[in-house]
Amino acid sequence: MDGVIAAWIGTHNALNSYGDDHRQLRAPIAAALTRRRVEAMVPEIESIVQDVLDGLGAHEDVDLVQSYALPIPHEVITRLLGVPSEHLPAFSAAAAGLFDTTASAEAVGRSMGAVLAILDQLVASARDRPEDNLIGDLVRAADASESPLSNTELRDQLMLIIIAGTETTVHAIGTLLVHLLSHPDQHALVSSGQVSMDVALAESLRLKPPIAAVPLRFAVRQFEDSRNGEQFGEGEIILIHLAAAGLDPERYADPERFDVQRADTRSLAFGYGPHVCPGAALATREVVIAVTRFLERFPDARLAVAPEQLQEPSSFISNGYRSIPGRLA
Ligand code: HEM
Repeated sequence: MDGVIAAWIGTHNALNSYGDDHRQLRAPIAAALTRRRVEAMVPEIESIVQDVLDGLGAHEDVDLVQSYALPIPHEVITRLLGVPSEHLPAFSAAAAGLFDTTASAEAVGRSMGAVLAILDQLVASARDRPEDNLIGDLVRAADASESPLSNTELRDQLMLIIIAGTETTVHAIGTLLVHLLSHPDQHALVSSGQVSMDVALAESLRLKPPIAAVPLRFAVRQFEDSRNGEQFGEGEIILIHLAAAGLDPERYADPERFDVQRADTRSLAFGYGPHVCPGAALATREVVIAVTRFLERFPDARLAVAPEQLQEPSSFISNGYRSIPGRLA
């Protein structure tokens, strides 16, 4: 396989590993993203959000993706990693390229190449002198382990965090804004405090999760799906559609409806089992702060086009909106 899928599965990182190998790769990432660490980051997230909101102030018509949903997670991730923000455009291009499942192998190679070169440098300097940031934590954990990671493996781990932590959160912010701005009754329930923004986010993630499917899973042994008797042989490819699970009519009544008061808003948006997203607490905090502060600052904001006209990414992996034309006043 080449192109996009190779970039997803041809790397050695937490997402693609299994058993002890997975535990070893995941532990330092999960340790950097505990609820306590995330709570300590809240003032920084608030300040990033205020800066981005201030930048919007002078405009009436904006693309809410480019001007709002995108800069916030990018700034958060670079501060978390301790990466200079001048690298943001290259990271953005690589993330967008990796999620575009219609891109050619050459296009993916080009955008990836730029980022891998930056990450190689960051890993080399962190190996010499690990600092007090997530890259430093990963290097220390890698060096302390029984089977130390190579620089390439460390780089692939960083790439995973950047990719997993940005494009996803961009779509989570954008999609929640679209859902609330296009459903005034649901918006009113949230702004009056009857329903929390956390619950509105959970409902938005159920209805349209930023990751529709995670490529790829492989059967580690032969098994049978107990629901329908389907057989899977060892090594067989599995693509699980998380987005479809959120629309299961056997589980959710009227599943296509955005309803912040539904009894059960739990979903598979952050995955399930040993690989469940370790960034969920951070992402939730970021999205809730970003959307709450936006609606406080611009209470009359509205979409400039009907939601059905919004363009979606050309991807079977990422799920959201490429751009969201909005009117702020
Ligand atoms: C709303 C935003 C986000 C969504 C919807 C999301 C969703 C997911 C999903 C579906 C998986 C795969 C789980 C599985 O295979 O069962 C995953 C894994 C992962 N996510 Fe997130 N994610 C988000 C934000 C973040 C953030 C902010 C970070 C880090 C800063 C992050 C880091 C990771 C990592 C490192 C993995 C791989 C974990 C492993 O394989 O053990 N994610 N995420």
